Amino acid sequence: MKLADNKATLSFSNGKPSVELPVYQGSIGPDVIDIRKLYGQTDMFTYDPGFLSTASCQSAITYIDGDKGELLYRGYPIEQLAQKCDYLDTCYLLLNGDLPNEGQRTDFHKLVLKHTMVNEQMQFFLRGFRRDAHPMAVLTGLIGALSAFYHDSTDINNPEHRHISAIRLISKLPTLVAMAYKYGVGQPYMYPRNDLSYAGNFLRMMFGTPCEDYKVNPVLERAMDRIFILHADHEQNASTSTVRLCGSSGTNPFAAIAAGVACLWGPAHGGANEACLNMLEDIQRNGGVAKVGEFMEQVKDKNSGVKLMGFGHRVYKNYDPRAKLMQETCNEVLAELGLENDPLFKLAKQLEKIALEDDYFVSRKLYPNVDFYSGIVQRAIGIPVSLFTGIFALARTVGWIAQLNEMLADPEYKIGRPRQLFTGSPRRDV
Ligand code: CMC
Repeated sequence: MKLADNKATLSFSNGKPSVELPVYQGSIGPDVIDIRKLYGQTDMFTYDPGFLSTASCQSAITYIDGDKGELLYRGYPIEQLAQKCDYLDTCYLLLNGDLPNEGQRTDFHKLVLKHTMVNEQMQFFLRGFRRDAHPMAVLTGLIGALSAFYHDSTDINNPEHRHISAIRLISKLPTLVAMAYKYGVGQPYMYPRNDLSYAGNFLRMMFGTPCEDYKVNPVLERAMDRIFILHADHEQNASTSTVRLCGSSGTNPFAAIAAGVACLWGPAHGGANEACLNMLEDIQRNGGVAKVGEFMEQVKDKNSGVKLMGFGHRVYKNYDPRAKLMQETCNEVLAELGLENDPLFKLAKQLEKIALEDDYFVSRKLYPNVDFYSGIVQRAIGIPVSLFTGIFALARTVGWIAQLNEMLADPEYKIGRPRQLFTGSPRRDV
């Protein structure tokens, strides 16, 4: 970390001596005030529920400029990665810091695609679930269960072990997500095919059956790959922070990723794509485009508890750059499948148009986020709504493991242990 030229001074109105706090500079983005010694110096904590102004770590992986609507993975703009690279290139970049050269690319693709199979016992583990279990419940269990299968690579202090776990997770997640789907619909599991691309193999495991050959549609393959790239990492969001906090105790890496999956499930985070599509379907059932105005009135009424899902973001106060790319993919997929007149897509466009002009949204800087269009794309591909967040988890696994491994390699890392402002009863007798 680079010390800035200036320092911060914290003074108190009650005569307590003021303290000087060091300031550190990032390569881009806001500086940070180092408050690590504050408690020792002042006997006071800082208070920041929801981490609105708190950097929880230093990281060199992903940078977001929320005002500009900019997202960089290791310095590269998301638009360039989405147009010029594939998901496995992106995984390599996130894990290693640079894009692969040709040789590294071939080796990395081979490595990931060679480890796609999961232990056969996984099938029996799945059988313990109800067929109608939510896929996120199943995935939280399955990914946690991986920790019971790979005892040979869980020494988190060994960089080689950390690398092996990362590859296993990236390789096996598509297989597990597809198995969770097949179990739910009562179809046989499809074993992975390592001669297909990462996205193509996933589509085949999802939609192929042993009864006939499955031909991967290149437009859908590219769309799937793009969904993966756009969701690969997003700096210190709730699930990534969960993975870091969970991993900070030194736990098994698969267990830490399972914690991230559990966090992602919520509708304010990864569950938003599912919630967004359910919202669109609800409006459609209740009258469609004609009822958009009425729905928007409900959204603006604070007492209704209704939110425009797929809108708003803690960090982006501008158009989420991923939403633009997702809209492009949405157009491509709907055209390929002859669904240009899809009523939900039209409805989404109408909602977006109103929201972008309405003062409620404009004044709060609420713009579409990645989930606004990703649900429509996934639905068109044939992915059931309840699996949307599972696809997000598949794609985000590389971000989680890259961030976890970055933390474990950081000599400054400590177990995460927030403090509190206690507001309960002082000591009393029974
Ligand atoms: N619909 C209506 N009003 C909203 C919305 C929305 N989607 N999002 C924010 N607001 C309002 C909110 O009520 C508040 O109004 P006021 O200042 O009058 O009280 C103001 O905008 C600021 O919102 P906030 O709740 O303080 O913002 P936050 O940073 O705590 O929440 C959020 C961010 C993403 C949880 C929220 O915008 C939201 O719930 N959006 C819908 C869910 C969604 O799409 N989530 C996906 C996020 S992107 C995927 C990911 O990265 O995980």
